[in-house]
Amino acid sequence: MPTRAWFPTFIYQEPLLKTGLERFNTELAGECRQLRDYDSAGRRWSLKNYPGGYTSYASLNQLHKFSSTFEGLERKLTKHVRSFTTQLDMDLRGRKIHLTDLWVNIMPENAAHSLHLHPLSFISGTYYVATPHGCPGLKFEDPRLSKFMAAPPKTTQARAANRPHITYPAKAGQVILFESWLRHEVAANRIAAERISISFNYNWS
Ligand code: NI
Repeated sequence: MPTRAWFPTFIYQEPLLKTGLERFNTELAGECRQLRDYDSAGRRWSLKNYPGGYTSYASLNQLHKFSSTFEGLERKLTKHVRSFTTQLDMDLRGRKIHLTDLWVNIMPENAAHSLHLHPLSFISGTYYVATPHGCPGLKFEDPRLSKFMAAPPKTTQARAANRPHITYPAKAGQVILFESWLRHEVAANRIAAERISISFNYNWS
């Protein structure tokens, strides 16, 4: 083939564990809902910044330091992040990776999360705790979109890798990882049930 692909954008998806996810998610979902009940500052922040939903992003964003359940999640996530950095050929010999922030997102019906990226970290991701059937996935945007300028639209048969967006379905028990500069969003939840996820950022030193 005369044409080859360069500068790929990698997205990682794997089950958090091989077994035991159901029990772990039940425990996590309970803790996430308890947090919402307890975190009045987070509920106030969410009213303005996360309409219709609850996030502990601005109030309780280091949950791995305060709860053994979330600390257990950190240990499991870190293995996946290490594997992802290897696939990205990142040279972290003699370096450490750190989970800097970990927070809860609860999206009832109609809640949405508009396009954003995660500053001040290098790998970010989400772990899915509760994903009622039909709830929205995680939609990523081609990072070159602002540079395309005069490019024509893609054909309707375009290969998935050549399209400007890709949506990963939200599936309880799955970890999704991406480089923190990659913009993403979650469309409005059209299901009358709560979608619960835990998002996080990693840095290195
Ligand atoms: Ni995000």
